[in-house]
Amino acid sequence: MRRGIILAGGAATRLYPLTLTVSKQLMPVYDKPMIYYPLSVLMLAGLREILIITTPHDAAAFQRLLGDGSRLGLAIDYAVQPEPAGLPQAYLLAEPWLKGAPSALILGDNIFYGNGFPAMLRAADARDEGATLFTYTVADPRAYGVAEIDAHGRVTGLEEKPVVPRSTHAVTGLYYCDGEAPSRAAALTPSPRGELEITDLLRGYLADRRLAAAPLGRGIAWLDTGTHASLLDAAHYVRIVEERQGLKIGCPEEIAWRLGFIDDEALDALARPLLKSGYGAYLLRQLAAGRAPRTAMAGPLAAHVHG
Ligand code: G1P
Repeated sequence: MRRGIILAGGAATRLYPLTLTVSKQLMPVYDKPMIYYPLSVLMLAGLREILIITTPHDAAAFQRLLGDGSRLGLAIDYAVQPEPAGLPQAYLLAEPWLKGAPSALILGDNIFYGNGFPAMLRAADARDEGATLFTYTVADPRAYGVAEIDAHGRVTGLEEKPVVPRSTHAVTGLYYCDGEAPSRAAALTPSPRGELEITDLLRGYLADRRLAAAPLGRGIAWLDTGTHASLLDAAHYVRIVEERQGLKIGCPEEIAWRLGFIDDEALDALARPLLKSGYGAYLLRQLAAGRAPRTAMAGPLAAHVHG
């Protein structure tokens, strides 16, 4: 059974002074802490065993927020990253917890949203061997991993933050890997900037012809929260869509209930302490309307929930 990992460590120096004392992944993205969004993605992927990796300093705050996950019908464990040493460090820290299981690693600051996305996650889950990355077309890919993809959709090359990108296919911060990821991470050597690079790990899968790419289409949003401006933009995006539809993006309580991880009574109990902010009232409105697909996340997820 695949297990989910959220990497919520790092110093987030690009957000200073915001992140001098508060973890980036606890920062608000409009109406909820940032980590709710990647957590929601893993839940929509059907994963219920989740490891959250934090700095030593912030571990207690994440535990206060999410506990052992049981309120959401999840099993959440925590690991601490003593010093940030690059994304593949997540696999090294998770190794004893994974116990050889395949994983979905998501970066705690990545926001994904769109119809059809859960179906793509399930397709990636069905691949037991190798790795799957998710690409997204961006106007300026220089801040990201960049994939070269041939006419058949196969990855032919990968570069980390290239000065002159060879394509506009950014590699998003969501990685499906088989049980080999920790041993592959252990064999990596640090890049010139002194860190292990996820792109090097993926390149190993590519060299073994075991890397697949899933392109996220135009109907899906992949948002960055790495700078003051992009953090604000993400908040505006969430607010605009939520207010227009009256439906929330990245709401773990709602997802837990819709996917049947928790029952009506449990959702009601989660909603009560949150009534004053409107968040709780939203949850109660969903409860009153019932789990009908029309009011849920439309399309494939509804099929998943109800069929
Ligand atoms: C990391 C990865 C990069 C990826 C990005 C996605 O970069 O190294 O390949 O495209 O996450 O968010 P970072 O943002 O940690 O510098």
